[in-house]
Amino acid sequence: MIAGKRVLLIVGGGIAAYKALELTRLLKKAGASVVPVLTRAGAEFVTPLTLSALAGEKLYSELFDLTDEAEMGHIELSRAADLLVVAPATADLMAKMATGQADDLASTLLLATDKRVLIAPAMNVRMWDHPATQRNLATLKGDGILTVGPNPGEMACGEFGPGRMAEPAEILAAIGAALSDGPLKGRHVVVTSGPTHEPIDPVRYIANRSSGAQGTALARALAGLGADVTFVTGPATVPPPQGVRVVKVETAREMLSAVEAALPAEAAIFAAAVADWRVANAADRKMKKDGSGGAPALEFAENPDILATVSQLKTGRPALVVGFAAETNDVAANATAKRARKGCDWIVANDVSAGTGIMGGAENAITLIGPDGAEDWPRLTKDEVARRLAARIADQLALPTTSATPATESPE
Ligand code: C5P
Repeated sequence: MIAGKRVLLIVGGGIAAYKALELTRLLKKAGASVVPVLTRAGAEFVTPLTLSALAGEKLYSELFDLTDEAEMGHIELSRAADLLVVAPATADLMAKMATGQADDLASTLLLATDKRVLIAPAMNVRMWDHPATQRNLATLKGDGILTVGPNPGEMACGEFGPGRMAEPAEILAAIGAALSDGPLKGRHVVVTSGPTHEPIDPVRYIANRSSGAQGTALARALAGLGADVTFVTGPATVPPPQGVRVVKVETAREMLSAVEAALPAEAAIFAAAVADWRVANAADRKMKKDGSGGAPALEFAENPDILATVSQLKTGRPALVVGFAAETNDVAANATAKRARKGCDWIVANDVSAGTGIMGGAENAITLIGPDGAEDWPRLTKDEVARRLAARIADQLALPTTSATPATESPE
């Protein structure tokens, strides 16, 4: 898993930086190439020469180094790596990452990358426990950043508690897991997410309350299993995950075009809350009150049904097509009927009625409906639902012949 891979190792300024030297040695021994990046603070703890000599590679430290930029620009540097590892990740580096600051080489590389990032935090226990650090950690996890440690134990400052950087062997194992190919390696999966915006005029639109959280979590989980994900998203309130191909759209019709352009795919997961109708008489210019007290009459036209269209493709249909069904009553019965109507393989149904807190919330309680019936899942975080669904999708695609269920009825 590690042999032949290129790891960009960012060494931050903490006493644990000395362990980054051993980590470099272990990575080299495992057959990886290590490109070291040393922050200014990091250089107070280990010397550039030691790190560069152990890595057997040129060391990078300055953002505005004309020679380095001419040889390999910082964008290229972060993109040429298979994985970015930050060890030690100090409280300051974590804060920079969580807020997207880019004021030195390390933080700029971390902001510019489209690769997976693994951090090994190390700091004083009070700094680790501080609400600001815990807030930043939650943000980073939400962004798909992988973490290893910190471990509890005695610290260089004499205190005891969580804050010790994970041992080099542990970090090596986490690097191996992060670089592992995963069961969906090389599989192309299309995921739609978020609401759509249907214009009324150039400044007004019709939308819905979808945050895009479940679709985003699912795309992240699928990418985590190695899938090559095309993420077609409407204007969501949560940012798209790392490590996926993002296609931003506004309207249902744009979403359909983007999905069609993304095919072929082995699986297509339609988590977007697509508007059923668009405004047929949308104005080219901003509509104005005319003083008569009257109101404009909007006319609606039905939008294409992306899920049904893809489910019923005669050629090039993905082996697995999954739809979502947000229901407010008779969830399983309505979703089972929807599965048949649209012709998809699975429906992920959930109850979005008032009081469930599911729409726009962090948790979801789903019923998975497939050819063999309905399965109720317990209430879980959307991240956990995503991980379990991604694992099920991987299992399904691993079957020798995926049982794509043909449409049994005409589309809606
Ligand atoms: O019919 P309903 O909107 O409840 O179906 C929900 C499922 O269908 C979701 O998977 C949604 O992404 C998909 N859908 C679609 N295109 C539409 C409407 C819904 O792909 N125009």
